[in-house]
Amino acid sequence: MSEYRIAVIGGDGVGPEVVAAGMGVLDTAASGFSLAWEHLPWGSDYYQANGVMMPADGLAVLDRFDAIYLGAVGRPDVPDHVTLWGLLLPIRQRFDLYLNVRPVRLLPGVLSPLRDRGPADIDMIVVRENSEGEYAGVGGRAHAGHPAEVGIQVDVFTRAGVERVARYSFGLARSRRGRLASITKSNASPHHFVMWDEIVEEVHRDFPDVQLDRILVDAAAAYMISSPDRFDVVVASNLFGDILTDIGAVIQGGMGMAASANITPDRSKPGMFEPVHGSAPDIAGTGRANPVGAVWAGAMMLDHLGETAAGRAVMAAVEEMLATTGIRTPDLGGTATTSEVGQELQRALRAAGVSRPAGRLPRRPPA
Ligand code: NAI
Ligand code: MG
Repeated sequence: MSEYRIAVIGGDGVGPEVVAAGMGVLDTAASGFSLAWEHLPWGSDYYQANGVMMPADGLAVLDRFDAIYLGAVGRPDVPDHVTLWGLLLPIRQRFDLYLNVRPVRLLPGVLSPLRDRGPADIDMIVVRENSEGEYAGVGGRAHAGHPAEVGIQVDVFTRAGVERVARYSFGLARSRRGRLASITKSNASPHHFVMWDEIVEEVHRDFPDVQLDRILVDAAAAYMISSPDRFDVVVASNLFGDILTDIGAVIQGGMGMAASANITPDRSKPGMFEPVHGSAPDIAGTGRANPVGAVWAGAMMLDHLGETAAGRAVMAAVEEMLATTGIRTPDLGGTATTSEVGQELQRALRAAGVSRPAGRLPRRPPA
């Protein structure tokens, strides 16, 4: 029986709460394999005690795992650029997890704030470039505090970086409804985004069966609201993908519904799987956090590990719960707590016969 070693970084705020619910669900879905979880106490508490978000050998530690399951990091008393650059971005960049894959799908039983829109209208996958672009971390400040102070942040796009994210996105579109929307702002930024457009056109030649739409990001933001059904696969830069997927989260029912996989397709480094939302300090500790985004990210982790049947079973349990019961957290109009939703998903998985409760495994008869 295979065992996967999973590093758990619950992080801050609601992070540990949604991750705990997710772990219970994934353990219940595990059939024919098991998940060995190891908690890493990294995040803002660790920062307050040690002055860093993770230890100096943090990446080497993570490299020994098969995957990383992350809640969220960020707390009001620690500057957000410290939490982000101390943990999340180094993992994405140093492990070259250049794909940030974010499904935007309205599940049956969930109400979208978009009037008259149902599950058939909202079903896309946003592929966000995750290693460079606007978040490359290049820049600086000079003349601090003086009237002449200047701050410079440089976007970095490489041919190799654009080509690989484009190639993955065309392949994904081919496996779905055959449409790819490439998002830029190449009218106002005529250097790197025009290069992006040209490279995407070049890669398109290898995927003539996929329909390519080039859309400027401001228009794309509007279309996400006015006509989400025009999107199948969307490929965007780091910043634009970040922003568009928060819109995506809202139209699929709210921040608590959205999931995200940070991966490299060759699996040379552990992927990192996390809900799209942050640490939600306004509801931390109240049991109101919706764990569906974290559970969904867990299902993507199982898929990436090759345990696709278990991944599908998790999503089937989520869909059944939302479509046929009123069990849901307050953000979706319910009264259930984070852990009650987790318990219900475990119950549904057991009822579907996906796994047997611990201690009831058939035993080998004595020889
Ligand atoms: P946020 O996503 O934490 O919260 C935005 C709104 O969505 C809040 O009203 C919150 O209550 C709600 N919300 C978020 N997750 C929810 C859930 N599971 N169930 C129900 N409602 C939920 O974004 P915000 O407020 O901008 O950031 C808070 C902190 O999180 C900041 O320190 C920020 O830097 C950090 N952050 C971390 C991320 C990460 O670790 N990947 C991503 C985004 C933000
Ligand atoms: Mg974001």
